[in-house]
Amino acid sequence: MDIKFNTKAIHAGQKPCPVTGAHVTPIYQTSTFVFKDVDQGARRFAGEEWGYIYTRLGNPTEAELEEKMAALEGGEAAIATASGMAAISTVLLSLLKKGDHIVGGSTLYGCTHSLISELLPEYGIEVTLVDTSNLANIEKAMRPNTKVVYVETPANPTLKLVDLKGAADIAHRYGALLVVDNTFMSPYLQRPIEHGADVVVHSATKYIGGHGDVIAGIIVGPRDLLNTMRIPYLKDFGGIISPFDAWLLLRGLKTLGVRMERHCQNAMKIAEYLEGHPMIERVYYPGLKSHPQHELAAGQMDGFGGMICFEVKGGLEAGKVLMNSVRLITLAVSLGCVDSLIEHPASMTHSPVPPEERLKAGITDGLVRLSVGIEDVEDIIADLDQALKKVEETVAIKR
Ligand SMILES: Cc1ncc(COP(=O)(O)O)c(C=O)c1O
Repeated sequence: MDIKFNTKAIHAGQKPCPVTGAHVTPIYQTSTFVFKDVDQGARRFAGEEWGYIYTRLGNPTEAELEEKMAALEGGEAAIATASGMAAISTVLLSLLKKGDHIVGGSTLYGCTHSLISELLPEYGIEVTLVDTSNLANIEKAMRPNTKVVYVETPANPTLKLVDLKGAADIAHRYGALLVVDNTFMSPYLQRPIEHGADVVVHSATKYIGGHGDVIAGIIVGPRDLLNTMRIPYLKDFGGIISPFDAWLLLRGLKTLGVRMERHCQNAMKIAEYLEGHPMIERVYYPGLKSHPQHELAAGQMDGFGGMICFEVKGGLEAGKVLMNSVRLITLAVSLGCVDSLIEHPASMTHSPVPPEERLKAGITDGLVRLSVGIEDVEDIIADLDQALKKVEETVAIKR
């Protein structure tokens, strides 16, 4: 049956328990599975008989999550991992070997940036980071040994976009794969595989879970390719998800669509409010007409998301007053949960990126990142309003 997104988010992969009839998939909180006899154990290890063996190799709660995520992203298969970084490192270390080359975006989540630019070269992998918002930069960086083009769109934290179809065409012309971090959008708002991407990764810690209570990751892509990532890389590196965390994600996914609608509505109103505020220097939000890639956003995304970046007049000092003055909004890293969170990329999430590279990527010291939650938008705006009044008073006192 051809079903739509919200129906898939609820039903895909969910089957009643064959033993008890439990409607919702139980948390199979077990490390191992019992064999009938020695021969069955041997057949399972040899791959001659399908069946669960040990949770690092597979688990029914995790399998349902993987089936649901594959259905939502429009991929053949998925793998759930212990964190977003476990997903990203499993993908990159399985696709890249000594002597291979990766082209990555210069604006990436801080730990992804350090994984690619500092750790991969230790394994003999060549790296070029470019501003992937301009396709010509990707094309120029490609080499005969380029195996992966890796992008975030919108990128964390500057919300610069990558033209997915254009990037996929370039990667494929050179025999490389396009890997896309879809964390900021979730599959409700963007499905990179529809635009030609080969592999999608997520920090499922964010919108997929949605409630700020789990660290997890997801990989989606072609079944044969993912099988080579699962065995041996995930099996031997060991970054698997726990059954309880998989269950939390299954629960979160059922409301992904309604949550994302509200994140988008709230973020649009807040972006407009901030853009019109005299104490705000600049707002970055793909839904605003002032965003340089607004047209691309409207074409390849089904909504503009819940993430906003902005600079307060008065730079870093003024931004600090704002972040220290919010009362409802929480000063914390992470994003994509029901609560609104505010943070300072230069000293927090993007502190692993060297200062000169941060500046090149547009991550100024004054940039503030806001993950807009699904509270009543009037309350979020009232909180920002009182905090911006404090900024105004402080700036006035200094003058
Ligand atoms: C875009 C993006 N990708 C990957 C990650 C890493 O995910 P995790 O913290 O779940 O390992 C993050 C974390 O903030 C992120 O924002």
